[in-house]
Amino acid sequence: MSIKSVKTAVFPVGGQGTRFLPATKAMPKEMLPVVDKPLLQYAVDEALAAGIERLVFVTARGKGALEDYFDVARELVDSLKAKGKTAELAVLEATQIEPGRMVFVRQQEPAGLGHAVWCARHVVGREAFAVLLPDELLWNPANPALKEMHEAYLQLGGNIISVLEVPDEHTHRYGIVSPGAVDGLITEVKGLVEKPQQGTAPSRLAAIGRYILQPEVIDVLAAGKRGAGNEIQLTDAMAEMIGQQPFHALTFTGTRFDCGDKAGHVTANIALALERDDVGPAVREWLRSQKF
Ligand code: UTP
Repeated sequence: MSIKSVKTAVFPVGGQGTRFLPATKAMPKEMLPVVDKPLLQYAVDEALAAGIERLVFVTARGKGALEDYFDVARELVDSLKAKGKTAELAVLEATQIEPGRMVFVRQQEPAGLGHAVWCARHVVGREAFAVLLPDELLWNPANPALKEMHEAYLQLGGNIISVLEVPDEHTHRYGIVSPGAVDGLITEVKGLVEKPQQGTAPSRLAAIGRYILQPEVIDVLAAGKRGAGNEIQLTDAMAEMIGQQPFHALTFTGTRFDCGDKAGHVTANIALALERDDVGPAVREWLRSQKF
């Protein structure tokens, strides 16, 4: 039986973003810009590049700006048209998604990433789906992360997660893979541990916020088991599926910025600014003038 391509992506954006207070007091973390685009736009662009057709956002109270962002800003469009600002109009147009392709679901309590994914169950249905955490900016314009994962999925089926090797002293911050056979960038996943205590991690391969999952994960999440931090963890639900379904990790070959963390977010801004023709020269000049 041939493997069907993945058409639905879930963006869990219900988190409180406490590491970014006070900015996130009145604005969703996912709207923080990297240069001039909100974090969420990078994740949406990545999903569209992978052929995703339906975008499901799991939001929460106070996150209305996310919905407005993808809507048509009619007054702004009219005013830009009247002023002949065609370049700005094109920028706006690139953020618009065809009506009906976006679905917004509310997570009514911040009960964890697994709970957020479960909240999307009625939209996801019984097909494989992707999950993208927008605060993980996976930067690889030539070969976007989810596209690469999708290609691997069409060969391997089952479940695929994106991973990166992290230093030993950082493993306690991540979901860590217990590895099986390795074939190039693909590693068989034998187990998964969420935030292992220091010195107990089964490897240094950390999950970095991109997943292609079978719908059975939602059945596991439905049990509502609490894990690390008393939250319903996606890692724990995935771990229960290992052994019953194929499960692989694909090592990401681009640059990853953890934009849920202040240092990661600042670094992403500098790195992406340096790549740009408009702002790059000024940023580079300033950096060169500094004595570090
Ligand atoms: P984080 O662990 O970064 O939590 O969530 P957070 O609340 O966003 O940020 P901090 O730690 O308080 O600063 C990882 C991803 O899971 C989503 C977040 O939106 C983010 O994309 N998430 C987390 C939910 O959607 N719901 C939750 O209950 C928890």
